[in-house]
Amino acid sequence: MPAPVVDDEYKTCIEKARRDLRAFIAEKNCAPLMLRLAWHDAGTYDASTRTGGPNGSIRSEREYTHGANNGLKIAIDFCEAMKSKYPVITYADLYQLAGVVAVEVTGGPTIEFVAGRKDSVATPPEGRLPDAKKGPSHLKDIFYRMGLSDRDIVALSGGHTLGRAHKDRSGFEGPWTSNPLKFDNTYFQELLRGGSDGLLLLPTDKALLEDPAFKPWVELYARDEDAFFRDYAVSHKKLSELGCKDT
Ligand code: HEM
Repeated sequence: MPAPVVDDEYKTCIEKARRDLRAFIAEKNCAPLMLRLAWHDAGTYDASTRTGGPNGSIRSEREYTHGANNGLKIAIDFCEAMKSKYPVITYADLYQLAGVVAVEVTGGPTIEFVAGRKDSVATPPEGRLPDAKKGPSHLKDIFYRMGLSDRDIVALSGGHTLGRAHKDRSGFEGPWTSNPLKFDNTYFQELLRGGSDGLLLLPTDKALLEDPAFKPWVELYARDEDAFFRDYAVSHKKLSELGCKDT
């Protein structure tokens, strides 16, 4: 599908959709799910074949029925209402806009949003997103494939400051922090503490303490929220634009 023409009219629609998304996310309390949608659309990127990535393809049944995407149909349906109101905006832009708004309205850093993503209906092969039961080398395989770094892996894992796992979606249960609707650095503090009662740590969360290339970033982000916010904003922008400058 062709790239959208990002003229003044398109940019005005983006700003209106941004306002509507702020209100919608506050009303539905769905910031975590919207962030997970943006990440799962983008996180299929393969830099070597230039396939997958933030292209809206997760809206197709073939992709949202991948095991890793359990639960995300709810967020796709939420975005459909916004798409009907602003049909000119691509799904790819809409999902990534929802991701940056989700971080912003929960108190996280402002992430620069550049419009112009193309839509695709090409379904990436299942298995490109990380498996929560695995360790550091798996995380590196998955994120290096996208062209991202160790520092990006740790900063982006801080996305688990929001939301929770649901037994019927992933098999895991519970939130990572005691306030899962506030974007802050408590994910890293809980991780260093090694877990508290009622809070979740996935094997891939614990993996961030097991690798010498990851751990210093965990320690930095736990003690310095400004450093986390700065790095998170940079890494999230990269994730949201994977493959967008290829053509
Ligand atoms: C939820 C795995 C990275 C954002 C989850 C869940 C799992 C998971 C198993 C629970 C899903 C459910 O049961 O509802 C992983 C793994 C990652 C990773 C293995 C590898 C590093 C990320 C990244 C972000 C992110 C990079 C965003 C930047 C979220 C959010 C939720 C979530 C916000 C909560 C969703 C909700 O409350 O409904 N993740 N994730 N995750 N993930 Fe991740």
